[in-house]
Amino acid sequence: MLMTSTLTKRGASPAFVMIFSTIFSSVMSVVFITCVAFSNTAVADTGISHERKTALIKLVRNDCGSCHGMTLKGGLGPELSAESLHNSDPESLRETILHGRTDTAMPPWSAFINGAEADWIVEQLMKGFPDAH
Ligand code: HEC
Repeated sequence: MLMTSTLTKRGASPAFVMIFSTIFSSVMSVVFITCVAFSNTAVADTGISHERKTALIKLVRNDCGSCHGMTLKGGLGPELSAESLHNSDPESLRETILHGRTDTAMPPWSAFINGAEADWIVEQLMKGFPDAH
C-alpha cells in the first residue's frame, strides 16, 4: 500500500502503521456508505424515492385506471384530470383515496399506500397525472 510504505519510510513503527491503516479504511468505509445512502434517497421534499414514485404512477395508471379509465378520463369512476379536479379539496381527495367511499365502488387504498404517498398522488392528479414509463 502506497500510504503504508510512505509512513514506514518516515520512521513510523509497523504497529502504528497497522492501526493507522485500519482506522483510515474504517473511516473511508463509513464515508462511502453514507454517500451511497444519501444518493439513494435523493428526494428529500416528499420522502418518496424515485423508484417508489415510478411504482405509484404504474399503480394509478393500471389499478385506478381500471375504473377511472386508462387515460383517467372516467369510466366506472369519475374523470381524474387536472381540469375536472381543479375545484376539489385536496384533503377530501386524499381521504377518498386512503379510505374509499362507502356505498360506492371506490375502494380504500390505505393497505397499499401511506398518507404522504396519497398526498403526492393527489398533487400529481391535480396538475395532470404523469405517464407511466
Ligand atoms: C373499483 C373501481 C375503482 C377503483 C379501482 C378506483 N376508484 Fe376511485 N372512484 C371510484 C368511484 C365509483 C368513485 C366515485 C365515488 C362517488 O360516487 O362518490 C371514485 C372516486 C374517486 C375520487 C374522488 C373524485 C372526486 O372528484 O371527488 C378520487 C380522487 C379517486 N377515486 C381516486 C382513485 C385512485 C387514486 C385510485 C387508485 C389508487 C382509485 N380511485 C381506484 C371507483 C374506483
